[in-house]
Parts: sequence; structure tokens; C-alpha cells
Amino acid sequence: MRILVIGSGGREHALLNAMQGHDLTVAPGNAGMTRLATVRPVDVASPQAIVDLARETNAELVVIGPEVPLVAGAADALIEAGVPVFGPTKAAAQLEGSKAFAKDVMAAAGVPTASATRVEKLVDIASALDEYGPRYVVKDDGLAGGKGVVVTEDRAEAKAHAEAVLEAGNPVLFESFLEGPEVSLFCLVDGETVVPLLPAQDHKRAYDNDEGPNTGGMGAYAPLPWLPEDGVATIVDVIARPVAEEMVRRGTPYQGLLYVGAAWGPDGPAVVEFNARFGDPETQAVLSLLETPLADVLLAVAEGHLDEVGELQWRDGFAAMVVLAAEGYPQAAKTGGVITGEALDDPTKVLHAGTALEDGEYVAAGGRVLGVVGQGATLEDAVAEAYQVIAGIELPGSFYRKDIARPAIEGAISL
Ligand code: GLY
Repeated sequence: MRILVIGSGGREHALLNAMQGHDLTVAPGNAGMTRLATVRPVDVASPQAIVDLARETNAELVVIGPEVPLVAGAADALIEAGVPVFGPTKAAAQLEGSKAFAKDVMAAAGVPTASATRVEKLVDIASALDEYGPRYVVKDDGLAGGKGVVVTEDRAEAKAHAEAVLEAGNPVLFESFLEGPEVSLFCLVDGETVVPLLPAQDHKRAYDNDEGPNTGGMGAYAPLPWLPEDGVATIVDVIARPVAEEMVRRGTPYQGLLYVGAAWGPDGPAVVEFNARFGDPETQAVLSLLETPLADVLLAVAEGHLDEVGELQWRDGFAAMVVLAAEGYPQAAKTGGVITGEALDDPTKVLHAGTALEDGEYVAAGGRVLGVVGQGATLEDAVAEAYQVIAGIELPGSFYRKDIARPAIEGAISL
């Protein structure tokens, strides 16, 4: 099958790796992807440019990785052009594009989530802070690449973030804090059909022990040894399916990947956020364990027959993923440093994100430079393998978290 993947990060590198054997093109891609796919330029914010490239490459399936093209209407344009596309329409992608919209859908579907207030004027910030904190949860109500959320005990920090979001032209959402460990559950959704992938957990803070600023994600592991056996089914029953049904009821059915970010508190799972696409870095860990051919499943969603696919098949054991970040990430990442290491061209171990090729050498071209994936019979083995591989990669000034999955391994997470 000729498949066009849109995106340029570690998530898209993992998608390509899971679809090896097909005729793959990726746009705009990154330097590490050239062994798996033809890399082409594209403006991801332009639905027409994506349609043009799909036509030029005779794509039989387009898989849209990031949220920006989805919210811009790339899936709508591809459907209009008659090209099968994995990814929701602009209207359905509002589940990620507008947190206020997502709250409205959840209220209508009876899905548990944090209470929230949307603020559009600087003058209303103080009363929202009084109502919701501490602990303060302050979110950018627009797309912020996973970095628009501040969770803090510090009122001044919460206020400063709210002001910065408003000054950037977006509304801001104040939310009650949801207790409990977080779960990322990726669900394939085709209308009312929901097929979950393995549950995963992301590590969003920059430094060990969940210290430092929020990032796009510094590492992940899957599945979750601490989740009850029926945990995935509960999240599907309580969250994903009611939302899918509500989207159908509204006349905007969801087709693509619904990322349920939930906190599992004393009353069970409640939604922290939805995303309209695979999550990064969890995808890199989750897909490394998938045995069912991914391309067939994504095509089934695109063509509207996910109900014929059945349960997905998974390798036994665990996977862990550790992100190598450039010096200064996330505030001001230093790019241009040369990356060396033996595993750099092995996509079963290293998935590139912010890399470029200069004079035949890989250099850092973004904050999250690459991610390393390890697998093992136990979570401890999977983590050990990832750390062994990352230890062999050099990038001056770079850093990575040393405690990915540690609380789960130490049995420190309980429900
Ligand atoms: N793992 C966070 C995200 O993909 O937004």
C-alpha cells in the first residue's frame, strides 16, 4: 500500500517503523526517517498542500500524525478529494483544539472530568484563582503542543501563565486538580466502534522526581502494571465510548485516534485531556509491542470498517521509552550539536524527533532530539535496555530523565 504520513517527530518515526513493508512517504519528516520512507517537504498547516502531495504520491492512505493539520481541516480536504485518511475532521478534532468544546461534549455524554472555568479577560483571573487553587491547573485553550498546561501550588506562577496565555490571544481554562496517577489510553475510533491500544504513562516534567517545567513528554512506558485488569475496559466504557457516541449524535462522528488522558482517582478515571492523535512519546513505547499490522488497522478506520478488525494482538512484556533532550529544553533548546552513537540508524531502538543531517552527521534540530525504546519481559528489563542504548548516544549538553517508570517498578503507584 502507498501510505503518506504527515508529521516530523518521534511519533511519526514510530508509525513508519510499524508500517515497514509498505511504500512509505513522510512529510515533512526528519533526517532519521530516510531509511524507512521517502521524505518530502510540506506545509502541515495547509490542507491543500497535503491533498496535493497525496495526489502526487498516489497515496492509498494518509495518516496524519500531529494536531495542527487536523484542526486546520486536512482530513476534510482529503475526504473531499476521495483519499482515505486516518485522522478526524476539523469539527471532530475540536476535542483537542478547544478544551471548552471537549468539556461540553463530556458534560453531554456524562463523562467524569475536572470542573472548569474559561476566562477571556485579565480582570477575571484573580477570582478564578480564588475559586480553583491551590493546587492551580491553568491551561491554554488553544493548541500548545502539549506545553500549554501549568500545574502549580504557586499562585504567582499560575497567574503569570494565565496572563501569558491571554496576552498571546487565547482564552485560558482554570480547572480543579484531579487526584491519582495518570493513564494515556489511545483508542482507535470509527463512529461508535472503539478499539483500545495498550495503556501507557507519560512523564511530562523535564527532570527526575517530576521536577522542573512541563514538556511535550520526557519518557513513557507501557503497559501499566498497576492498572486493574479491567482498567482499559473501564476507561473505554466510562469515557471513550460515550464520547464517540456523543460525537455521532452531534453529526460529527470521530474517525481516528482518540487519546484519552485520564487521572485514576478514588472514584475511578476522570478526563484530564483529549488529544485527536497518537501521543508522543507514549506511541513509541506502545507501537513497539504491537503485533497486528498497523497499516491494515489504520486503513480500516479510514474506510469505516474498524468493527471488522477485532482485538489487537500484542507482544508479551513491556516497553519503555526515554527522550534525549537538547541543552536548555524546554525553555530555550540549543540546536546544532552533533549527535553520535551506534544505534542512531536502528528504528527498533532509536526514533528521531528533532534531528537534521549536516555534512553527513546527525545534528540536533529541536528540543526533544530523539527517543530510545527498550523492551523486556519485565518493566525493569525494558527500562534497563532503553538506558543501555541511550548511554551509547552522545550529544554535548543533552540530558534525559533517569527515572522513567521508576515509581511503577518500585510499586509506588497504587489506586
Ligand atoms: N504525551 C503528551 C502528548 O502527546 O500530548
